[in-house]
Amino acid sequence: MILTVVGARPNFVKMAPIISEINRRGMPQIFVHTGQHYDEKMSAVFFDELKMPRPDVYLGVGSGSHAQQTARVMTAFEPVLIDHDPKLVVVAGDVNSTLACALTASKLHIPVAHVEAGLRSFDRTMPEEINRVLTDHLAELLFITEPSGRENLRKEGIDPAKMHFVGNTMIDSLESFLPRALERQPWQTFGLHPDEYALVTLHRPANVDTPDALAEILSALEELARWQPVLFPAHPRTVARLQAWGLQPRGVRVIEPLGYLDFLGLMARARLVLTDSGGIQEETTALGVPCVTVRENTERPVTIEAGTNQLAGTSRGGILAAAARAGAKPAPTTRPELWDGRAAPRLVDVIEGWIGPR
Ligand code: UD1
Repeated sequence: MILTVVGARPNFVKMAPIISEINRRGMPQIFVHTGQHYDEKMSAVFFDELKMPRPDVYLGVGSGSHAQQTARVMTAFEPVLIDHDPKLVVVAGDVNSTLACALTASKLHIPVAHVEAGLRSFDRTMPEEINRVLTDHLAELLFITEPSGRENLRKEGIDPAKMHFVGNTMIDSLESFLPRALERQPWQTFGLHPDEYALVTLHRPANVDTPDALAEILSALEELARWQPVLFPAHPRTVARLQAWGLQPRGVRVIEPLGYLDFLGLMARARLVLTDSGGIQEETTALGVPCVTVRENTERPVTIEAGTNQLAGTSRGGILAAAARAGAKPAPTTRPELWDGRAAPRLVDVIEGWIGPR
């Protein structure tokens, strides 16, 4: 039996096609949600829209400090593993749930597969970087989304036989749901016109957890809002900070987090996307939409090479300069290798081969 795990918003989009492919092949599967994200808007809506099955097990760990959250996942996950004794645990991405489940499984000698292995920002102040490095070193099967992943893992001494370059399952979800997302014309809900607005997301601790850093970024957004509508579906972490510090960016429309389909539709027809998310850098690349990444580094260099993504840094000047560059020419539309909507079947082929005859 294969045990698949999700915990936080980006996991849902990456795992949905894998869970469905495992089910389609009739392979025995137990599906676990750690509950790291638990709101209707951060979790339930994604299950509905991505047509994911209800989790077999819900750990309900919720929010907390890094140590608390990681420890709660481990404590709740261990008895599930002992109960079900799976042949393989499949985790995705770089969130606290990813590392917590990988660590718990490997201590019980249960092999781990890591979806989205090998990405590196080389910035150990990011919690996600710690989660990525450690999860990769625990994993038996490493599923790689872009060529940099293989290179990074090789440099860290990981056995190449464990690496499988299968492409990006997040783009499988995008391919499956884009037509439905566009049909909804979500821009109309906000009185926007296609190709005329900027779409923003921000949630990284480095950007939103200090008033100075957040105010600096907001001042760039205010300037952009003088020239075009700026729509900002804000993560709960960011909303809490905006409220605590009484920050209200002038002219910027701050709204609640959106579901997968509305966000995908809005992203596909945005003139410009500004974000500090990892997944959105990839989705804009697949869509050929210009993206300004409000960070000093990216673990997804293929999005820069593709020409859709610009690293802006986090200063007002850097963000505005990158936005001007992004607007100057249409974004190219060549997709990175194997971002073709067929990553999940390739990945499950590898798992099937690894598990052997049933
Ligand atoms: C987590 C991931 C990050 C990912 C992001 C996507 C880690 C270390 N970080 O960050 O890599 O990009 O998810 O969103 O795992 N909250 C709610 N409702 C929820 C979930 C969270 O209100 O359903 C609030 C809580 O106040 C919580 C805060 O958001 O304290 C942060 O949530 P948490 O899961 O700790 O990290 P994220 O910032 O979401």
